[in-house]
Amino acid sequence: MKPVKVGLCGLGTVGSGTFNVLQRNLNEISARASTPIELSHIGARRDNPACDTTNYQLSRDIFAVVDDPEVDIVVELIGGTTVAKELVEKAIANKKHVVTANKALIAEFGNELFAKAQEQGVCIAYEAAVAGGIPIIKAMREGLAANHIEWLAGIINGTGNFILTEMRDKGRDFADVLKEAQELGYAEADPTFDVEGIDAAHKLVILASLAFAMPLQYDKVFCEGISTVQPVDVKYAEELGYRIKHLGIARRRDEGIELRVHPTLIPHKRLIANVDGVMNSVLVQGEAVGPTLYYGAGAGAEPTASAVIADIVDVARAISSNAATVPALGFAPEYLQDHVIL
Ligand code: HSE
Repeated sequence: MKPVKVGLCGLGTVGSGTFNVLQRNLNEISARASTPIELSHIGARRDNPACDTTNYQLSRDIFAVVDDPEVDIVVELIGGTTVAKELVEKAIANKKHVVTANKALIAEFGNELFAKAQEQGVCIAYEAAVAGGIPIIKAMREGLAANHIEWLAGIINGTGNFILTEMRDKGRDFADVLKEAQELGYAEADPTFDVEGIDAAHKLVILASLAFAMPLQYDKVFCEGISTVQPVDVKYAEELGYRIKHLGIARRRDEGIELRVHPTLIPHKRLIANVDGVMNSVLVQGEAVGPTLYYGAGAGAEPTASAVIADIVDVARAISSNAATVPALGFAPEYLQDHVIL
């Protein structure tokens, strides 16, 4: 059987994690796709000592990967919204499917990219863009497909949750924990995205689009981060029986949809108050299913790679079975709803 060929662009934290998990588990991964998958091309501006690429010819020009006629799936793990956007547009124009972990790109430019992908008959898969290794996109799009979603709320930034947890448990200084989160590969290239709530806002918009069948509307989210939270706030919250957690909340109201990210006081006894460190958790309330709760690592090389590769498997399966590709948001444009955002 002809293998599905994957071109990996970017060998940073998530790129190296994806490379290493593919090396380790390729047989199982191919078995799950019911088709052989081959990592055929790698484009990276620099090597990463975390992965041994000696058996690969690395291309320093990432666009060469996208232009190679052999590549079926382009995996965009460069990050940012400049070169990455150009790369994804080129991939779509070349009729290649795209897998990306890039929440900023999807939240800010997803509407136009999905439309282009649909025109070209390819898909953009982005499981890794939200909540790291938790398969929340699949859950929203498929597992909860029967439901009228009432609201969702979650801890969707691992770095922020790690900082709040370390401040609470060890009394550590904000800047010191942030530095560690950067060293562990949790934080964004620009960590203000983590601590000012921008990363969580990107992710919330993506989840809300799936929950309420609406276009991505990043500019409408109320956004407040954790940079002003002081150790004394964390301490007093504890004394009063609460935890400070940074939440993303999307709620359907009679007047429209509420979209907000901000620090929140949560009573100790709530499950989500006990989600610590880099872990993420998302609660989704569907009117048929009731409350559902998802939990897992929200950042880091291999948890995020787990989600990237899940998308590779889905797309490879669709390619090998000649299945029509699903519209990227899970809704064809004519089904999108025009909600008022409060
Ligand atoms: N910086 C992000 C976080 C990475 O800490 O959650 C995963 O999206």
